[in-house]
Amino acid sequence: MDVLETLDLSSLESVDRETQQKSIRSLEEGKVIYLPKLGFALNPHENAFLTPKLLSPKSKNVSFDSRRGVHGADCENKDELKAMMERFASHANQVIKSLFPAYADHIKQGRTSFRPAEISGRPSSYRKDDTRLHVDAFPATPVRGNRILRVFTNVNPNGVPRIWKLGEPFETVVEKIIPWIHGPLPGLSYLLKTFKITKGVRSAYDHYMLHMHDMMKGDLEYQKSAGQTEFHFPPQSTWVVYTDQVSHAALSGQFLFEQTFYLPPKGLCHEESSPLKILERFLGKKLI
Ligand SMILES: [Fe+2]
Repeated sequence: MDVLETLDLSSLESVDRETQQKSIRSLEEGKVIYLPKLGFALNPHENAFLTPKLLSPKSKNVSFDSRRGVHGADCENKDELKAMMERFASHANQVIKSLFPAYADHIKQGRTSFRPAEISGRPSSYRKDDTRLHVDAFPATPVRGNRILRVFTNVNPNGVPRIWKLGEPFETVVEKIIPWIHGPLPGLSYLLKTFKITKGVRSAYDHYMLHMHDMMKGDLEYQKSAGQTEFHFPPQSTWVVYTDQVSHAALSGQFLFEQTFYLPPKGLCHEESSPLKILERFLGKKLI
């Protein structure tokens, strides 16, 4: 399967129904929706934010959500930074509305992130090393079957691409990794919640997804032997991915916006190809 579905759109106005239907099918089947001509233009004064010096000492990203405001930045003109983050959030929202109108009733907008630091050569533990192939799963924030949908735009001003690796189909990852993962220990999910290690109860689905994420990253033989292709996302291109389904690794690049959305399973158009349904079929049991 070709991992990319390329759409030749340079504007989000009047996306036709055929394109919308093709896009939603490809997205839910585990492809990356790639928009090489759809960028995000910064206002001239926002170019001042294109520096890793913007980040507070322990932050990798600037993050924003409407309830908590802007976090992770050390700068004086916070209002301008917030306005830029809000503008990207609303741009990403427009991307979803135009390409996937069927999601309108169920989708929830999550955090917006701006990543001004170079990602290659950054030291981290293997679990946090996003240069290794993985599917996204959050240790502290169980999603309980909700999908993790992300919109990315490379805004590098120096012509530098964002380089990703895209791995094997989700079914293949499951076949290789899941047989090595033990089921959740009875009662553990409630202990994790009681001691505030997780926000909410970690479902069996979250357990398998998190262990799959860790095992993929921790197995260097898997990292070498898994089917993978490298892709360069050029500046002023946008891509939309279910990162809980598409095996991916971010190898290098600097200056990226990302918007996270959450979609409950009932909002999907082709639920049978979701990670939850694939895992449930493979394991022969309900996970939520
Ligand atoms: Fe990721």
